[in-house]
Amino acid sequence: MPLVTMKEVLKESIEGKYAVGAFDSLDRVFTEAIINAAEKKGVPVILMVVPPCIEGPDSERFMEYVVTRCRESSVPVAVHLDHSPSFENCARGIHLGCTSVMFDGSALPYEENVAITKKVVEMAHAAGVTVEAEIGHVSGHEGNMLDGNIADESAFTTVEEAMQFYQDTQVDCLAVAIGTVHGVYKGEPHLDLDRLQAIRDELPIPVVIHGGSGLKEKDYKELVAHGANKINFFTTMTLAASEAVRKLLAEHDKLTMTDIIEVGQKAAEDIVSEHIEIFGTKPLTK
Ligand code: 13P
Repeated sequence: MPLVTMKEVLKESIEGKYAVGAFDSLDRVFTEAIINAAEKKGVPVILMVVPPCIEGPDSERFMEYVVTRCRESSVPVAVHLDHSPSFENCARGIHLGCTSVMFDGSALPYEENVAITKKVVEMAHAAGVTVEAEIGHVSGHEGNMLDGNIADESAFTTVEEAMQFYQDTQVDCLAVAIGTVHGVYKGEPHLDLDRLQAIRDELPIPVVIHGGSGLKEKDYKELVAHGANKINFFTTMTLAASEAVRKLLAEHDKLTMTDIIEVGQKAAEDIVSEHIEIFGTKPLTK
């Protein structure tokens, strides 16, 4: 089954009322965990890489592996560049095989976010690649993933902003701020589900929720019921893998590196499988 665009992966999600999981991978271990989980469930998935994956000296080799693994997968997979900070970085992602890119101008003034997003859309669409952008701002992408974050209500997305931004840029899917945070939560999450529903009711494209980690099963189900179509997810997966490795090391004196990698990968795969199930992801019908 092919490597596809994010638009293709999400094309039945609005009508089907489900979300596709978008999981970040910075290495081979998580890439295998994510693709293996989706293959076992028989559903599409979005494999996300982050800017450092496409920048370093090893980036070409790493991306060649990621793209090949996804192309050879038994389920549809989009390789998506998450939180790209610039037009040039998006171009590099496309050059290295991403079928989808996110330009994140959510911290920029509206006009600047629109201007760069429009340029990215023009370039990406010419290359057959789809684009995500963000309006409003999901807190916690400022490097304090494990310290805990609080959602900033003043940066929540309004329906009017979402519609205007879509009309101004023609993005293929849109990330909105409705109460989730990147990384772990400080205190209890408060999701503005009415806001999400109101955006879903107006916007003709898939709605993306960033900061998927740290919610309860019922929260995810409510997010999906109120219109989330793509849920970005990382922190829970990486914490589960490191916890599994910590436990293994505490219990055994003699271990090989292979033992450690296997246990970390298995823990990540289990978390991905569990969340694919919770998000209600379905196979594409056509
Ligand atoms: P979490 O790490 O909170 O799951 O967020 C991931 C994310 O939104 C990546 O874009």
